[in-house]
Formats: sequence, structure tokens, C-alpha cells
Amino acid sequence: MRGPQARRALTIGAALALLLTVPVPVSAGEPMASVEAGRALFLGHAPREGPEPLAFLRGSRNGVPASRFACANCHGRDGLGQGEGSLRAPAIRWPDLARASPQRSDAYDAASFARAVAEGIDPGGRALDRLMPGYALSGAQTAALIAYLKTIDEEQRIGVGPSTIRLGILSAGTGDGFPAALAQAFAQKLPSPVFGRRVELVSLDSEDGPAGERLRRAGIFAAVGLPHGSRELWPELRRLGIPNLFPRALLNGDEPEAETVGLLPTLDAIGRAALDQAITCAKGPLTIAVGGDPASARLAAAARARAATRPGLPAPILRPVAELIRDVPRPGQNDGCILLFAEPEAVLALLSASAPWRYVGLLDQFALARERGIPSRHELVLADPRIVEGQPIDSPAFARMIAELIERSLRQAGRQVTKSGMMAKLNQTRRAPGSNAQPDRPGEPDMVRFRKIGKMSGIKAP
Ligand code: HEC
Repeated sequence: MRGPQARRALTIGAALALLLTVPVPVSAGEPMASVEAGRALFLGHAPREGPEPLAFLRGSRNGVPASRFACANCHGRDGLGQGEGSLRAPAIRWPDLARASPQRSDAYDAASFARAVAEGIDPGGRALDRLMPGYALSGAQTAALIAYLKTIDEEQRIGVGPSTIRLGILSAGTGDGFPAALAQAFAQKLPSPVFGRRVELVSLDSEDGPAGERLRRAGIFAAVGLPHGSRELWPELRRLGIPNLFPRALLNGDEPEAETVGLLPTLDAIGRAALDQAITCAKGPLTIAVGGDPASARLAAAARARAATRPGLPAPILRPVAELIRDVPRPGQNDGCILLFAEPEAVLALLSASAPWRYVGLLDQFALARERGIPSRHELVLADPRIVEGQPIDSPAFARMIAELIERSLRQAGRQVTKSGMMAKLNQTRRAPGSNAQPDRPGEPDMVRFRKIGKMSGIKAP
């Protein structure tokens, strides 16, 4: 039996897997509920309970939800401040506020902080720049913000030890070679430690406790390569401010890049690319056959949004797959391609019923059809099938790419690495021209990249 404190850890070294007891990080003496509420306010997440407070731009009487003007947007997720010159938002970790600064000779206390946040006046009576919004917070919400600002520094460095950086992985399910591949990739990419630290992979697999509790106990700097089936953990990572790095699942494409970075094309990018592909073979109005699952709906919405940007293109006709299966278009009714986004079983049923049609859709489903002996004519390599299928991928190349990106960003973030510092570097690297891991550019989905990912994971384009 595994106790709640015991977890499987994969450490880079001679042995890839060994049993370790990880020390539980102790949080500073602030009440947990307060810290959580303060973090939500600071990061612009919806509060767990109660209505969201309002923010007021200077000179405006109309409040907007405070999450639209999250403190982190201007002061940085680490509270260290950002911007330049007179537009600089200063550092607002509590120790920064609790002492005098070049701009003000007085230190903040709880009362003067509340006044600054509500009315934009500093302890010396100076009016703060108009850029700093005013917030209508309750006493408890202001206290929660202070509690969070007291712990933000520690939280930003959870998982960073003198000789290790701890990343969380999941290997739930049998036969998943990914954790071992990742451990190996780090061993190759990080032959020498970064600022004296090597990467320690901690398994998050556990039967005991709710997800948030498990994550907190694990004390990780970031989670990496979480499989599709672990989505219950994702909101918890977000809530706790733990970066979600390179999940092995398709992202929507609208996730904040300070919280989640992916390596695979997103559903939005796939939807756009599929539309571009389909209009090259559609002769009449384009039909989008859509299944009932959220991913299919997202793909279809992205394709339609893309179509709307094409001058002269008639709006695609959206049809439920189930309806098409009952009423298969006959030859002559549709001479082009049908854009097909649905659950695998629905795709197989439609392909069996209407083999002669050409479809643009997800490669994994066409591969599945081929496996089952259902002939299909199809067009496009869109994603790694094993990921779309929701199965973990076990790709050394994928693991190497991840290890390389993380290693580089840790090096660039420096000795005093914070979660937000590493994320900033990671996103810079991803944006670099020629990077393998460029995020989607809404204007131009990059088919080369899809092919590259297909190739990387050993999938051939049809
Ligand atoms: C749109 C950008 C923006 C947002 C959002 C924002 N701030 Fe500010 N904040 C600023 C700027 C700019 C200043 C500097 C104003 C000055 O010095 O005149 C500032 C100043 C401050 C100060 C005074 C610091 C000092 O040293 O006197 C505090 C405290 C503060 N902000 C807290 C917050 C909190 C808490 C939130 C979220 C609830 C927040 N800010 C959201 C831009 C922002």
C-alpha cells in the first residue's frame, strides 16, 4: 500500500524509476482559503464562490469584471512589476509594499493598501497613475489579496530546490512509455545541471485525495506531458498557478499562454486548416458534418469562423453526422469534400455508409477506418492520432522536444527562476522564427508543422 506521502518518482540517474518520499512544502502562515481567494483575484480567475468584484477604470463610472483587469496582467504573475518608464507597474509583493520605495517614502499597511486598490492613493497621499484601475473589493477580498501577496514569492518557486527542479507527470494507464522517454530525454538534454539543479520527475498518479490536494502535496514547479485522460487535473493546475506544460492532448487554442503551453496543433488551428483544405476540393457549398462531442463542436466553430473571413465563400452548411448517416448524400448532390469532425464511431459509421465521398478530417479516424477495412478517400494530416484518440503517446521524439524546450527556458530564466519567469522564456522560445514549437498564428495555420508532428510521431501522411 502506498501512504499518502509516498509517491513514485522518476529521477534522472542510473535508475529511471525509484520510490521516493517527497517532502511536503509548508505554506507560509496564511490561511489557505484566503491565499486561494487572493490568488484568484490576482490572476483574474473567477472566484470559487460569490459574485466577481468590479474594477473601475479611472474616469469611468462603469464597472467591469475585475478579471478583465487582473493584477497579474500589469504587475506580472510573480508580482515583480513590468513595463517601462512612467508606464511601469511596480513590484507589489507584500515585502515590496511594506517598505519605502524611491517613489514613496511611506510603507504600506493593510489600511493604506486597501485605499490604494480602491481609490488609487498611495500612503503618502499621492494619486497613483490613471493606468492603475480602482477595485471595489470587500474587506475579506482585500485581506485575501494581501495574504496572497505575502506568499506569492514562495509559491512562484515551489518545486525549485538547491539541486532539483521538480516536474509532475502522470503515467496512469498501463503501457505508457512516456515518463521513461521523458526521463531519458532529460538525461540526454541535461547532462549537466542547470544552475546546479537537475530535473526530477515526480509521478502524480495516486488514488488518494482530491486532485487539488494531490497537486499541492506534490510540490511541483510545473506539470508536464499530462495525457488527454487527465483533464480533471487541468483546472486545478490553473487554480493553483502551476504551469501545464505540453499536455499530450489537443488544446482549444484559447488557453492563456502564461498558464498552458502546448506543442501540438490546437483544435482551433486544425479547424482553420481543415477549412482551407476543404475549400480547395469543394465545388458547391461546403458541408461540415459535426458530431456531438465538445472537441468536434470546437473544430466546426473554428472552421466556420475561418470561412467567414473568406470573401465570396458561401457559409458552410452545418449538419449533424447522425443526420448524414441517415440521409447519405447521393452522387450529384455534393461533388466536393465534406468536412468531418465527429467521434470516431460516428465517423466510421458515416464512412461505411458513404465511401465514395471525399472527406477532410482527422487522420487518426481515417487510419482507424483503414484498419477496419472501410475504404475512405481523405485529404489531410491533422494531428497525432494517438493523441486525438485520447491515448497516451509514447514518442521519444516528442519527449526530446519537450525536454529541450524546458531545458532552454530554465537556463534563460536564470538562477532565481520563477514559474512566471520560466513561462515567459518558454513562450519567447516558441515564438522564435523556425522554432518547432511555434504557437498558432490565427492567420496562417502551418501545414508544415502538422506534417512535422506526424513525421515525428511516426505517422505517415495519407
Ligand atoms: C492596467 C494595469 C494595472 C492593473 C490591472 C493593476 N495595476 Fe496596480 N498599478 C499599475 C500602475 C501603472 C501602477 C503605478 C502607478 C503609480 O506609481 O503612479 C500601479 C500601482 C499599484 C500599487 C501602488 C504601488 C506602490 O508602490 O505605491 C499597488 C498597491 C497596486 N498597483 C496594486 C494592484 C493590485 C492589487 C491589482 C489587482 C487587484 C492591480 N494593482 C492591478 C497598473 C495596474
